[in-house]
Amino acid sequence: MIPVLGGAGRLALPDFTPGTVWLVGAGPGDPGLLTLLAAKALADADAVVYDALVDPAILDLANPAARLIDLGKRAGRPSPTQEAINDRLVALAREGLRVLRLKGGDPFVFGRGGEECLALADAGIAFRVVPGITAGIGGMAYAGIPVTHRGMATTATFVTGHDKSGALPDNLDFGVLAALPGALVFYMALGTLDEIARRLVAAGKPPMTPVAIVSSASTAAQTVIESNLARCAEDAARSQPKRPAIIVVGEVVRLRGWIASLQQTGPVQTGCGSKAAQSLCA
Ligand SMILES: C[S@@+](CC[C@H](N)C(=O)[O-])C[C@H]1O[C@@H](n2cnc3c(N)ncnc32)[C@H](O)[C@@H]1O
Repeated sequence: MIPVLGGAGRLALPDFTPGTVWLVGAGPGDPGLLTLLAAKALADADAVVYDALVDPAILDLANPAARLIDLGKRAGRPSPTQEAINDRLVALAREGLRVLRLKGGDPFVFGRGGEECLALADAGIAFRVVPGITAGIGGMAYAGIPVTHRGMATTATFVTGHDKSGALPDNLDFGVLAALPGALVFYMALGTLDEIARRLVAAGKPPMTPVAIVSSASTAAQTVIESNLARCAEDAARSQPKRPAIIVVGEVVRLRGWIASLQQTGPVQTGCGSKAAQSLCA
């Protein structure tokens, strides 16, 4: 049982049973965006298998006795195959460990969480899926951009900006994307931004449509570049935004001018466990 918000109620969270895997979304970076189930999984896990997007501040919250296993895929560097990751999860569970598979954002949003569930099911390993806040919603919120807005954006569309080879996926219909009445949220798209912007304009999206590039959203390193379709590729080339970055195309970006001015953001502090640190975190 863990207390929540000092009220009389208590939450009875489910047991993290030895020999099972919890596939958990860690959110975009701020440890304050972890769910209660994610916090429990971090506290109870015997092994934490994490990907490249998980913020180190979140790993600091893990059970000190847990094995921390980095199986992150990083662009341009040797990375474990998905099959190797699946096999490792199965092997750790078969050792009788409580295995926390921790992924940035939400495991089922461009996170290959579905493939890992299928592999676990195939091996007869019981698992739990704990959703996380995806960067395309939480990251935008920290930048002061609502993903939908009544009268302005009646759809929100998540799109990947690259396929296995790093190129723009060839099954994207830019005529359809350009006609949607809401935000287009591109993941993994810094490398293809130029082509995305050109093809949206060619398909009829006005060149002055606002664009925001939000890097390291919800962390202390968050940056936001505001631009438009006509010049976003040039602006990105000049400013060199860091990865990971989410790119938002749509009128909702204009709301940032009002929302971001008084919005309180910034990640919660961690490392407050020791007496010495408590004075810094007060
Ligand atoms: C492999 S996808 C994983 C998405 C993740 N499962 C999610 O739900 O956010 C990686 C992409 O997510 C986006 N991303 C993840 N975390 C981010 C962050 N903190 N700030 C900006 N973009 C982020 C970037 O577009 C990055 O290239």
